[in-house]
Amino acid sequence: MDRLTVEGAGLTVDFSKHMVSFETVALLSRLADAAGVAAWRDAMSAGAPVNRSEGRPALHTALRLPAGSRLEVDGVDVIPDVREVLARMGRLAEQVRTGAFRGADGRPVRTVVNLGIGGSDLGPRMAVRALRRFGGGGPEIRFVANVDGADLERALDGLDPGETLFVVCSKSFRTIETLVNARAARTWVVDALGTDAVARHFVAASADPAAAAEFGLDPERVFGFREWVGGRYSLPSAIGLSLMLAIGSAHFADFLAGLHAMDRHFAEAPFARNIPMLHGLLGVWYGGWFGAASTVIVPYSADLDRFPAYLQQLTMESNGKRVHRDGSPVNGPTGMVTWGEAGTDAQHSFFQLLHQGTHCVPADLIGMVRPGHGLDGHHDLLLANLIAQSRALAFGCDETELRAAGVDPSGVPHRVVPGNRPNTVILGEALTPRTLGALIALYEHSVFTQAVVWGIDPFDQWGVELGKRIAEVVERRLAGRSGEALDASSERLIERVRSARG
Ligand code: F6P
Repeated sequence: MDRLTVEGAGLTVDFSKHMVSFETVALLSRLADAAGVAAWRDAMSAGAPVNRSEGRPALHTALRLPAGSRLEVDGVDVIPDVREVLARMGRLAEQVRTGAFRGADGRPVRTVVNLGIGGSDLGPRMAVRALRRFGGGGPEIRFVANVDGADLERALDGLDPGETLFVVCSKSFRTIETLVNARAARTWVVDALGTDAVARHFVAASADPAAAAEFGLDPERVFGFREWVGGRYSLPSAIGLSLMLAIGSAHFADFLAGLHAMDRHFAEAPFARNIPMLHGLLGVWYGGWFGAASTVIVPYSADLDRFPAYLQQLTMESNGKRVHRDGSPVNGPTGMVTWGEAGTDAQHSFFQLLHQGTHCVPADLIGMVRPGHGLDGHHDLLLANLIAQSRALAFGCDETELRAAGVDPSGVPHRVVPGNRPNTVILGEALTPRTLGALIALYEHSVFTQAVVWGIDPFDQWGVELGKRIAEVVERRLAGRSGEALDASSERLIERVRSARG
């Protein structure tokens, strides 16, 4: 298609290099209509219980409504609560950032350690890295997610407990990895500073403030949010506290404004100009009609290098589903595998397969017009690579061109780049809090659009529960305690570990 470039919420999104005509776009629009995308979108943002299997709303859009908005759910305006928590987070962030907040022995905080996993880690970790230029002298932020003790050990390396603040992030406050890390961190603090120090060196973000308080936290320093915020949609909630500590409350407000700008675009733009809807429907198109099993995300931005990892949870935990909302099996493909890496690094790794492999892998190439640094020569080269790859993927290089360039006939088949590799180019003006917010909301709503077309629930994640339950059994058995017998292979593995330990 010659030109399918759409602007919205400060982003320019070029869909022109897709294998679609205007007629295809019109047909995809009819598919979205038939599935009821607009009605489901409106129901979601009005607080209807669109998360059917858990019987609750999915109201992350409420977290970024501007001050003074109203949104009633079951007759109660949910916005005052949201704003109150934001205000408390803001006060803490400013105290920590200015040094007014003091640890147990009177010293200011130099390092914040975020303890959380999944949505309680991936969003804050990605965003703190992406917005590092907005730190303005704030504390260093480190992250611990893995239950591998090496993760905590590495994060605490070189830190002084008296200058360290832990943010325990867990929606449920029941996630074993986070609790185990939080207990170990508490011991580290208590050993150095005594039990009373816990209340000064730990804060928490959770939808279960009572559980956080039981852990020994000062209720004033527990930042709540509601069950209707899904883990992978929780960065704009209290789960974003580490980000706010990193960039300050004013920049955090800009970040929320960027999310909200894309929410409005999604709510208001007609299909043919609606970025998340087009993006989502193109994914449905390639998955359903071209057998695409994966989609690759390549941010041409070293600061956005955690964005693919963040999107893996958002897209795959949301749309990795095999039954419809009513429990009946789906008949075709649903969510694609999402993967990626920052460009230009990715070009020297997996782009060979994108150009000449046998799979159709739709690609998103993300870039910023202006760099955050002063090395303009670098940035021109970076953007040149983004645009060049977009063109090479779409148009390739055929035999005639190669022969005309004098390539030896025996070398021609190896050098042909077939093209027709669909890709979307997403350009922001600069990597600011506002741009990042818009980018995140684009993907949230793209995922939602796809889920509606497939008729699945993007807000539950029952598939992750089974492994958690089995891990409890295995842990007991490894410790020599009784527990249910498992399959022969798993039994041998347990035996292998136990015998090695004597
Ligand atoms: O992996 C399952 C999951 O429930 C995610 O959806 C969630 O983001 C993560 O675990 C962490 O959960 P919590 O914030 O409750 O600790």
